[in-house]
This record gives sequence, structure tokens and C-alpha cells, in this order.
Amino acid sequence: MRTAVYPGSFDPITNGHLDVIERASRVCDKIVVGVLNNTSKTPLFTAEERVEMIRSVTGHLENVEVDSFTGLLVDFAAAKRAKVIIKGLRTVTDFEYEFQMALLNKALNPEFETMFMMTNSKYSYISSSMVKELAGFKGDLTGLVPCEIIEAIKEKYK
Ligand code: PNS
Repeated sequence: MRTAVYPGSFDPITNGHLDVIERASRVCDKIVVGVLNNTSKTPLFTAEERVEMIRSVTGHLENVEVDSFTGLLVDFAAAKRAKVIIKGLRTVTDFEYEFQMALLNKALNPEFETMFMMTNSKYSYISSSMVKELAGFKGDLTGLVPCEIIEAIKEKYK
């Protein structure tokens, strides 16, 4: 079985992330969305909240599992028996960082392949940090994040 891990902070998940998950789920047998539980950063949503939000918007995809992880991505991928790491690429500014991460992960464990999916052009300008900034100014999040999670984001900025 071809299992892939799609890792990220997902604070919160955007329509760009969801688009990558949906497309990846069509080309892999199983996708494990890995939510980084980074104790050194203070996220808007806890890892549990982020996992629940992603589960609620990927319920229609039978081959998608969502879990959180701490520590190294390659260890999480190994624990999930995945050999492929999926990353989304939006613009050239993503490339340098992603290239470095892919090479570092390859050096840590050569068994893993990082595969990049170009973000749908509709979503190439969306990032979780932009969503948070907009939400902080009470901007309209329609079309940027799945509609099911808009209220949860607004709630954080009340
Ligand atoms: O959505 P993000 O914040 O761009 O995702 C970054 C993520 C989670 C993919 C990356 O930070 C990561 O893999 N972190 C886990 C720690 C790790 O393995 N780092 C690389 C070697 S130091």
C-alpha cells in the first residue's frame, strides 16, 4: 500500500491545504495528514483542535487519516509506514525552504521521497498566517478556508 504523509502546522487548515489533500488522496492509497505539535510555538489552535478541524473537513475522503506529531517528520512517517512525504508548493518563495527541508529529510533517512504538488492557482495566495491576520481584522474568510471552520476561527478573535 502506497501511504503518504502530508505534514504541516495547519494553524488553521486552508482551502489550499484541503485541495492538496483531495488531489493527493486520488493518487495515493492512503494519506496521513500530520499536524505538527510544536511546543516551542504558541499556535492559535491546539494540536487537538487542528486535528479535529481537519477531520471534520476531510470526512468525505475515505483514505485520509489525521494525526498529530511531535519531533522529526521522518520518525512520524516511519511510524505511519509511509515512504512518501507530500508538500504543497505555492510560489517560488516556498521553493528554497522546501528544497532545504526535502534534502535534510533525505539526509536523515534516504528511504523517504518528498513529492511536491503545485497548489491550485485559485489558492496560491492563501496561507494560514494571512488567514489569521485577516481574521484579526474581522475580514471575510469566505473562500479562503473551509466554511465549516470559519466560526471556530472567528471565535478565537472575539
Ligand atoms: O505548515 P508548515 O509550518 O510549513 O510545516 C512545516 C513542517 C511541519 C512540515 C516542518 O516544520 C516539519 O517537518 N517539522 C518537524 C520537525 C522536522 O522533522 N524538521 C526537519 C529536520 S530538523
